[in-house]
Amino acid sequence: MYDLNLQKGTTPFYDGVNTPTLGINGSYLGPTLKMRAGDTVRLNVTNKLGQNSTLHWHGFHLPAYADGGPHQIIKDGATWSPQFEVKQRGSMFWYHSHLPPVTGPQVYQGLAGLIYVDDEETGRLDLPNEYGVDDIPLVLQDRTFDDDGSLFYSGMMMGVMGNVMLVNGSLNPYLESKSQKLRLRILNGSNARFYSLGFSDARLFSQIGTDGGLLERPIDVSHISLAPGERAQVIVDLSDGRPVVLRAVSSGSGPVGSEQVFDILRIQPDLERARVAALPSRLATLDPPDPAQAIGTRPFVLGMGMTINGKRMDRNRIDETVRLGTTEIWEMSNTSMVPHPFHVHDVQFRILDRNGSPPARNERGLKDTVVVNPGERVRVLLSFTDYSDPYLPYMYHCHNLEHEDTGMMGQFVVT
Ligand code: C2O
Ligand code: CU
Ligand code: CU
Repeated sequence: MYDLNLQKGTTPFYDGVNTPTLGINGSYLGPTLKMRAGDTVRLNVTNKLGQNSTLHWHGFHLPAYADGGPHQIIKDGATWSPQFEVKQRGSMFWYHSHLPPVTGPQVYQGLAGLIYVDDEETGRLDLPNEYGVDDIPLVLQDRTFDDDGSLFYSGMMMGVMGNVMLVNGSLNPYLESKSQKLRLRILNGSNARFYSLGFSDARLFSQIGTDGGLLERPIDVSHISLAPGERAQVIVDLSDGRPVVLRAVSSGSGPVGSEQVFDILRIQPDLERARVAALPSRLATLDPPDPAQAIGTRPFVLGMGMTINGKRMDRNRIDETVRLGTTEIWEMSNTSMVPHPFHVHDVQFRILDRNGSPPARNERGLKDTVVVNPGERVRVLLSFTDYSDPYLPYMYHCHNLEHEDTGMMGQFVVT
């Protein structure tokens, strides 16, 4: 059981400057919730913000009433107590407020947090797993500060982007690592910015996980891309003892926006822990997605004017009805000028192809958010195995939060 209080506070991002912020049980962001697959969790979410809000469990497979989307409004002063079984693989998920048109500003001010889910299969693997020691979460959020130290939220419909980087709510973080192998679980928790992440010395590292679980095997990469809402788990080898910086290059939210480089984490190895074990060669069992299982293809056109299939969000309209117990292909075509990270509630899906070609090897895991670039057609395979509700919908939407707040979202029910 967790008691979560959505509250106002001030946060000293800069010494001696108290920035007004929102947080969960604290002044900015919230606690990392630790859950085990198979557990039933109950959360008491109390809203002390002085404004309405919601809290959504991003990436979680759960009944629609527990989803925490725009239909589970927590009025100021009220407590919302969802209960659900954790039906996830071991991975990192997150929670955030989800009430258009204030999702963007509420998350920007701090209403988000992480969820670590553990399961038996991943728990047995020889991977760094000491939270905060050799298993480090990194929440990336670009922000702009006003001269008086307050957070500046422009509300720009194209997406709000900042010029400084907060990592877990801190500026310029630094880590002394006693471990030769460091596991980083990275969330792009930004409202709109896309990142390409790599190390200052261009060293290779291993991606071991995507949004919803571990990859079948580690993939060597020199950089990874993360759009808003996406997560990755990586292992970096520090056995050479050299300091190194994890960096993000950002081209904004696509072709428009300024290119910018952010230092994410300075790492100073201080090696004493002998972690010589090689990475397990096999991490998870993931059958290749089989499109023949699908009963059909559902098209989604991500269009100009922040529309999906020509429509903007209407909370009184159900856009799609899915049959319980079926598998479908969802085909997203982007006819607009900017990329959109398309996110689906309730399910983890698999990417079948991008413009007919198989996805990159590090995109072949469980995903709940997938980038659809301009001109691209991305097909994903989703299974709706349980939980039906003819009235209460789940959301699908662009995870650029300003696009979402403008209406780039639709509703589906599982019946
Ligand atoms: Cu991360 Cu609909 O949300
Ligand atoms: Cu979500
Ligand atoms: Cu978008």
